[in-house]
Amino acid sequence: MISSTRPTPGDGRAGEGRTPLRAYARRALALSVTGLLTATGVVALSGTAHAASTLGEAAAAKGRYFGTAVAANRLSEAPYAATLNTEFNSATPENEMKWDALEPSRGTFTYGAADQIVSHAQSRGMKVRGHTLVWHSQLPGWVGALGTADLRTAMNNHITQVMRHYQGKIHSWDVVNEAFQDGSSGARRSSPFQDKLGNGFIEESFRTARATDPAAKLCYNDYNTDGINAKSNAVYAMVKDFKQRGVPIDCVGFQSHFNSNSPVPGDFQQNLQRFADLGVDVQITELDIEGSGTAQATSYGNVVRACLAVTRCTGITVWGVTDKYSWRASGTPLLFDGNYNKKPAYDAVLTALGGTSGGGGGGTRTCTVSYAKQETWGDRYNGKVTVTAGSAPISGWSVRVTIASAQRISTTWNGTPSWDSTGKVMTMTPAGNGSLAAGGTTSFGFTIMTNGNTAPPGISACTAS
Ligand code: G3I
Repeated sequence: MISSTRPTPGDGRAGEGRTPLRAYARRALALSVTGLLTATGVVALSGTAHAASTLGEAAAAKGRYFGTAVAANRLSEAPYAATLNTEFNSATPENEMKWDALEPSRGTFTYGAADQIVSHAQSRGMKVRGHTLVWHSQLPGWVGALGTADLRTAMNNHITQVMRHYQGKIHSWDVVNEAFQDGSSGARRSSPFQDKLGNGFIEESFRTARATDPAAKLCYNDYNTDGINAKSNAVYAMVKDFKQRGVPIDCVGFQSHFNSNSPVPGDFQQNLQRFADLGVDVQITELDIEGSGTAQATSYGNVVRACLAVTRCTGITVWGVTDKYSWRASGTPLLFDGNYNKKPAYDAVLTALGGTSGGGGGGTRTCTVSYAKQETWGDRYNGKVTVTAGSAPISGWSVRVTIASAQRISTTWNGTPSWDSTGKVMTMTPAGNGSLAAGGTTSFGFTIMTNGNTAPPGISACTAS
């Protein structure tokens, strides 16, 4: 959007200025001791911006992890990756480790997208939760078409191949996911595994998993089991039986997808505790709570406090980084809004974890800029400056653009320009695009009338507020 057309002080006086570009460059450089003026690359600031506290750091101080579901195809989005990297210390591939993604046809394993998440997480010291080995959903058609003996072989082979591939890289595996029916029956859900192999498929899956990777924590994971109810009672009975008979199970995952029809149960903590008392860890594995504002924040805080109150509640994973990519985006159920701004729910979680709240975590506000030349015509060209927040959110930014004496800026967009007395130094501040989440980006642009001088502009370092 073109937001301003500047009648520049230099209008109509092309070539009149007397200060060479080098002088402006020197001046701009002098004004910015931490920035490197360049018109061709990234302007790097030297600020070391570390939020005083993040979800991951605060959880770690309590002996827990704080993770998120991650989608491989979002990792290239800078603010997505920055928010993930800054705030979380555990990652769960949201879809990339499901059967249809990893073994779309029998015996052919495609690990690319899942590997991308694992290496991203590992290179940043994050744990990885594996999700999920045996599940009725996102199951390729060929699995359901197998006869009983083949299905057993295929199930065990899938578990073995996938766990071997990730051996030593996965903290906890959801070995079996959502095997119980909703409602009051307490029965197992119909699935190719249940229908052909019977109840024993769960036990067999856990035994195969343990034999493959003895170091990984093996979890049963389900939803609508967060409070004490018929479904969680059925899972409880299974886990109790497994523990009594020595079937290898280490943890139970409580997905914790909440909304107004299914709010955080009043006995959430009590339910976690009764499972923990069976001798398994408990984990909150897919937390999201539809809503907004204080109500949502209160619910999130309650969930975190419940986990912290249970010694064997070892970590919390929220089901996505930003509302805009949530599986139920319209319910805005996550901790960061669609622009990666921290929501009240974020502050509530950080506070509950004992961290420092305040919308910025007390981190140093910094930004960097990069410049790129855009369209070019005989008499003018467009320039684009991209502003990127550092590892703390910012609420404003300022960048100076210095042009050669012959040149004139005729048009700007996505920013609010102001000019020095020479008309050759434009200071650009936001036009409604000042609030950036950690790692968030915005850009502004301008048209430079060359008047015969096609030199690139000088771009100062970015100043954040
Ligand atoms: O990637 C394709 C894309 O190419 C295609 O154009 C598009 C058209 O629909 O579909 C895309 O795949 C979607 C995929 O998410 C990735 O976005 C699938 O249709 C969609 O079904 C799939 O939904 C996932 C859902 O599990 C499937 O059951 C959600 O992202 C994921 O958040 C959700 O996660 C589950 C947990 O695994 C288990 N617990 C419940 C939880 C929420 O449903």
